[in-house]
Amino acid sequence: MLDSCVFVIFGSTGHLSRTKLLPSLFNLDVAGQLPKGLVILCVGRKDWTTDSWRKEVGKWLEPAAKLVDSQSLPQFLARLHYFKGDIAEPASFEQLRNTLETTAEFPSNQVFYLSLPPAEYKGVARSLAAVGLNQESGGWRRLVIEKPFGYDLEDAESLDHGLRRDFDEHQLFRIDHYLGKETVQNVFLFRFANIMLEPLWNRNFIDHVQITHCESAGIEDRASFYEGAGALRDMIQSHLMQMLALVAMEPPPNLDAESIRDEKVKVLKSIRPIPKNAVHAHAFRAQYGRGHIGGQSVPGYLEEADIPAHSTTETYAAMKLYIDNWRWRNVPFYLRTGKRMARHGSHIAIRFKHPPQQLFRETPIHDIPQNWLLLGIQPEQCIRAEVQIREPGIGMRTRTTQLDASTCTPEGCDYKLDAYETLLLDVIEGDHSQYLRSDEVTWAWRVVDPMLKVWAMERDFIQTYPAGTWGPVEANRLFEREDQCWRNSMALDGC
Ligand code: BG6
Repeated sequence: MLDSCVFVIFGSTGHLSRTKLLPSLFNLDVAGQLPKGLVILCVGRKDWTTDSWRKEVGKWLEPAAKLVDSQSLPQFLARLHYFKGDIAEPASFEQLRNTLETTAEFPSNQVFYLSLPPAEYKGVARSLAAVGLNQESGGWRRLVIEKPFGYDLEDAESLDHGLRRDFDEHQLFRIDHYLGKETVQNVFLFRFANIMLEPLWNRNFIDHVQITHCESAGIEDRASFYEGAGALRDMIQSHLMQMLALVAMEPPPNLDAESIRDEKVKVLKSIRPIPKNAVHAHAFRAQYGRGHIGGQSVPGYLEEADIPAHSTTETYAAMKLYIDNWRWRNVPFYLRTGKRMARHGSHIAIRFKHPPQQLFRETPIHDIPQNWLLLGIQPEQCIRAEVQIREPGIGMRTRTTQLDASTCTPEGCDYKLDAYETLLLDVIEGDHSQYLRSDEVTWAWRVVDPMLKVWAMERDFIQTYPAGTWGPVEANRLFEREDQCWRNSMALDGC
């Protein structure tokens, strides 16, 4: 039974709140998962009243509400309240505290969700603490922040220091929505609920690991955010690094949040540091130029609205990492992400080594492909293993076939859970296992910081790739051997 609470959303009129937070809370309500007395207090600077705000949110949720019974939307809207306040004004926080304390129907537990630009996190945490809203005497207080947690290692450490001055680590929930994705959670289960793979899950049998997230979309209306972030900070520093940690971690002693996070931290700590003079051998960046997506011509990054004419911000980043521990020593992990790529999708592809004896060398099937294990994150949620089988008939011929453990059909899933739904429930429950701990964030920054520093100095030139392609072929130079190639899809022969 979950505690009731007031779920306070700062920046409630913004994009994240409109597209993710409020729809996820609505879906949870429809599924009967929210505690009965839970109230959502939306904070914003605009002149809404609770009534007009409910009407506005009602419009946003109308399409989803049409799919469920007619009582669901009014029932959800009745949970919403609006609080007009300015985060730059200390008086707003005084008023907020008074509202929280004096409104009879508000439960005493409070979640503060900062759906705000990261530069505001420290200041808001400070202001909440200044009016005592970090104190847990009357009920629990939890503060949720979204990635990016800082701009670089130094900035992340300063943010962390600031947050932990005002809130205790047990009150802090650092969200990386990838940890709420079904198949990302399935990686953990697949590895530790099945013994079959464990003997193979190491440097003796695995040739290399690839983690890919690509998008056919461009930067859309996020120019100011993206220009200051770039692909490395936006996707690799947290989302892809978390996926790497889940693939590479040791089994935790139990399912406690701290035990899981301890194991992930050990992996991040074991990543071989990349000295600045080796950045070019280990990482590659590029930017999309004009091209075609779905038959339509699309502009290059420099032609997008509000992007400076000479920007060298990367929209594509790829890197090669090594994890220096017993399990993974010398197995390359290739990470890659890009906007305006040929297709939208995320997957983890693990290629195994050749069998130790090339038994079929003298036969027509001398060139047998290696086994792959493919973990589809999106749009396909699946786990597939590629194995070789003999073609029926005369002579020795083989073909590759896929053993499929999909949780969904190619047409989609029966139940589509948004990553935020499970994560929002976790914060209400006080479960940190899918949230990042302070040291986890710092160690992930340590990995990418040398690339950020080197790239920040190289402002004269950036390689480009046409929109709608798989990125620049030059990124292939990261591969250790010629027989390695980017696995672009989950289909057979997806290299
Ligand atoms: C966000 C990034 O964290 O993740 C976006 O800021 C990116 O740039 C998005 O598009 C991808 O998330 P998803 O869930 O669509 O794969």
